[in-house]
Amino acid sequence: MDEKPRNAAVRSVKAAVRAMSGYTLVQPDCPVKLNQNECPFDVPEDLKREIVDEALAANWGRYPGFVPGEVKESIGKRHGLGPGYVLIGNGSNELIQAVFQATIATGDRVVLPAPTFTLYALMGRIAGADIRTVYLKADMSFDVDRLVEESAHPEVRLVVLCSPNNPTGSMISPADTARIAEETDGLVVVDEAYYEFGGVSCVELISDYPNIVITRTFSKALGAAGLRLGYLVADQALTREIEKVELPYNVNIISLIAARKLIAQETLIEERAAIIQSERQRVFQALLNLPGIRPYPSHANFVLFEAERPVDEIFHGLIDRGVLIRDVSRYPMLERGMRVTIGLPEENDAFLTTLRDVLADQGRESAN
Ligand SMILES: Cc1ncc(COP(=O)(O)O)c(C=O)c1O
Repeated sequence: MDEKPRNAAVRSVKAAVRAMSGYTLVQPDCPVKLNQNECPFDVPEDLKREIVDEALAANWGRYPGFVPGEVKESIGKRHGLGPGYVLIGNGSNELIQAVFQATIATGDRVVLPAPTFTLYALMGRIAGADIRTVYLKADMSFDVDRLVEESAHPEVRLVVLCSPNNPTGSMISPADTARIAEETDGLVVVDEAYYEFGGVSCVELISDYPNIVITRTFSKALGAAGLRLGYLVADQALTREIEKVELPYNVNIISLIAARKLIAQETLIEERAAIIQSERQRVFQALLNLPGIRPYPSHANFVLFEAERPVDEIFHGLIDRGVLIRDVSRYPMLERGMRVTIGLPEENDAFLTTLRDVLADQGRESAN
């Protein structure tokens, strides 16, 4: 095929999409993988077997039920709500995307803190949103006064708050979230993907604030990132609207079986989250004791830290020694930033020892 038709075909793609660099990830194969905020504990084998046994008995030739009623019921019950308040998604990202699709037309305002999860801005750009950025404060806390101010503009359709925030680990309180919801005419999405590691939720606000939407995931504390499951909780009038943009049968029967069983594992989830929290404290303290390293307190299953040495040197120094973390230096405000996921105790030890080695080697090189 010659070049002309090729170029012509690409021109059919929206200019906003062509201008984007896309969501990419450097993923070298390292034995210690602490770059994606996954759960270091797999789903227990007996539970996997229960799920697989039920999946074996199901008829895979049929579509799932039109409405995943049983799963919505189990999740709703966990929050003291009826099934009408809940939507199930193929990962929580899909539900956040559904909210963008249901609310944002070209030129509509979206308020986003920065730095935060990059997917929100990506979804906003695809939808043609006019994105208004509110930077976090220097200590990575949310600038609530500025958020309230921006969100109060009459053209705002959506405010997205990630709490605990990826990649900083900072949280916004329910009282501050309520303030924003009170002042805006738009929807306020609170992405609580890391809720279990911080323990503070805005779910209870939805009875007073029908414009608040909460998203949760099975990919972090529930240890099922591979199954792609998430859910959304909001006022029933709102879930009915958002549901209209969801594709029918978006979650497969095996994931639906798993969702019902996993959501019931409250003790297991709590125990695992407690281990991660205590490991997080240990890693934070160890980083604090390292010269030239500044960690930020975190309410999630990762720790953001800054280094005096160039990020590139540390990031690749770790990779060369088999430890993969996340380079977040291209995020706004984080030119010196890296993020490490809290893993198993031995993985965290490997990260800390290796980081000390990398820093010592660099110290020796710069002394020579
Ligand atoms: C803030 C935030 N929301 C959502 C997700 C993804 O969730 P899911 O796997 O449910 O799509 C992530 C994953 O890293 C995340 O950091």
